[in-house]
Amino acid sequence: MDLIAALESLVGDLETGCGRASSLAALEELRVDFLGRKGKLASIMSSLSSLPPAERPAVGQKANSVKERLNALFEARKAELEAQKEAEALARFDPTTPGRAPWQGTLHPTTLVTEEICAVFRHLGFDIASGPEVENDYYNFEALNMPPEHPARDMQDTLYIDERTLMRTHTSPVQVRTMLGRKPPLAVIAPGKVYRRDSDLTHTPMFHQIEGLMVGEGISMAHLRGTLTAFVRAVFGGHTNVRFRPSFFPFTEPSAEVDISCCICGGAGHVNGEPCRVCKTTGWVEILGCGMVDPAVFASAGYPEDVSGFAFGMGVERVAMLKYGIGDLRMFFENDVRFLGQFAG
Ligand code: DAH
Repeated sequence: MDLIAALESLVGDLETGCGRASSLAALEELRVDFLGRKGKLASIMSSLSSLPPAERPAVGQKANSVKERLNALFEARKAELEAQKEAEALARFDPTTPGRAPWQGTLHPTTLVTEEICAVFRHLGFDIASGPEVENDYYNFEALNMPPEHPARDMQDTLYIDERTLMRTHTSPVQVRTMLGRKPPLAVIAPGKVYRRDSDLTHTPMFHQIEGLMVGEGISMAHLRGTLTAFVRAVFGGHTNVRFRPSFFPFTEPSAEVDISCCICGGAGHVNGEPCRVCKTTGWVEILGCGMVDPAVFASAGYPEDVSGFAFGMGVERVAMLKYGIGDLRMFFENDVRFLGQFAG
């Protein structure tokens, strides 16, 4: 066939092809087929060299104009298909669909429970006090009526920095530091980290405590009981019962441990006929230690003999575990967002 006619027929063929190409991918295939390096136009042009030299310029010019028209056809159809694709996407787009909520951090449950407990005591008139985590043996033990050979020191699994310096094993040293700096009457709570050389399922080397201290004229066990009952009911609910069991601490006399009715089984000892795993069917769980401040501790603080006061100390993780029914202490330290996210406000 005559090359000029062959070139011209390409235009009509591409027109038909473009009309049929219903996607951008199909159109691209068509473009390669016509305009690609091994395409129809190229194959016609490869026979240009077999023409007598005199005929070549005319065919060359025709080829150029055909190429332009092919390109124009192709671009026009491409624009059409692109516009169609966009219209389809817009038709699917629903501007009323709610967006994806951004990730938001939450306060750690230990922080939340500490803040909640502090708020309860602030409401009862207590101030917030604090003391160092790296503590002297004197404040951690001796001033709290635990002289060097006292057997209660063994119970505390102390982490020592040197002979006289240690990581505080409880928040009780803040009692002495507070009294050294303030005159009675006073009421403070001291939240903070404490450290023990202890690590297993139910113990971590660091955990949190909240210490309480109230000193004044005529402060009695009845004030202690009333204060702690108010605290327990504010944090665990108004129906919660409280009982005091006699106990021993070197820095209080008399001393007691406080149990609350189990918040998982409501004190019944069973949940749906199954033994309660939190209180082990007793209906009670221990929540804190307390007592009347021992005169020896007042003496360390240089307080007069006619003051009296009460003190208490509790573990924050323990309170959180009881309040939320968390079975494993390690949850507080693993920082698994699936756990932490459940406490989002
Ligand atoms: N410090 C004690 C402990 O860590 C807890 C405690 C008990 C604190 C009785 C007190 C208290 O203030 O009166 O085990």
